[in-house]
Amino acid sequence: MALDIVLLGPPGVGKGTQAERLEAWLGLPQVSSGDLFREAIAKGTRLGRKAEGYIDRGELVPDQVTIDMIAERIAKPDCAKGVILDGFPRTVEQARILDELLAKMGRRVDIVLDIEASEETLLERLTGRWLCRQCGRVYHRLSNPEQVRGICDECGGRLYQREDDRPKTQRRRLQVYQDRTVPLQAYYRRKGVLVDIDGEGDVESVWRQIKAAVEPLVAQKA
Ligand code: AP5
Repeated sequence: MALDIVLLGPPGVGKGTQAERLEAWLGLPQVSSGDLFREAIAKGTRLGRKAEGYIDRGELVPDQVTIDMIAERIAKPDCAKGVILDGFPRTVEQARILDELLAKMGRRVDIVLDIEASEETLLERLTGRWLCRQCGRVYHRLSNPEQVRGICDECGGRLYQREDDRPKTQRRRLQVYQDRTVPLQAYYRRKGVLVDIDGEGDVESVWRQIKAAVEPLVAQKA
């Protein structure tokens, strides 16, 4: 039986960090809408050209563009046993369409992990984030620094900061999250699948809460 997980939460709260752990534990693919857009931008594809301006301004990419991209991705064979969705859905419209797409496959969103933290914590995490240009590994200047400044421990690639992690865009992204994505909490709470995760603590303490929430489902689906 498939297991479909959604990671919800504001910019910088640690969705990608925890999605990687879920992927390693469950063997299900992490599908990050933000990563898919950034890959498309780096390759200069039509999708990338459509998305770039919105991302740089901290706005959401239009629903239809995002939905088409995710629909194509989750139809791939590696998602047949389930998927870890990171950053999608982000609007009620996206959530409705996701329900329809999964229903066609005889599936549903099994659990939504809503990771929340204070604005102060989010700004600190976004400001200190550095990524490898080559392999995409994520670091943090204080909580998870690289060994040699500016160089990826994993592949030796150069580290960079995301354009949309600049202070002005950070604030806009947090506002857009409040306006467009917070309504999803009520949407999923009504469906009885939302679990509140306290994202304030370190990576391990957030992971312990996530594992405890997902473990019963893993046992049930086995
Ligand atoms: P996206 O890439 O999804 O960005 P986001 O949701 O803003 O999330 P982030 O990637 O910034 O943060 P995260 O929660 O994954 O945190 P991370 O684990 O990296 O989207 C970017 C843009 O694409 C959007 O603004 C929009 O334009 C567009 N887009 C994407 N999806 C869309 C959609 N569905 N619809 C429309 N448009 C869409 O952690 C952050 C930092 O903190 C790291 O340095 C990490 O090492 C550190 N850290 C993590 N956890 C902890 C911890 N517990 N303690 C200490 N440090 C921690």
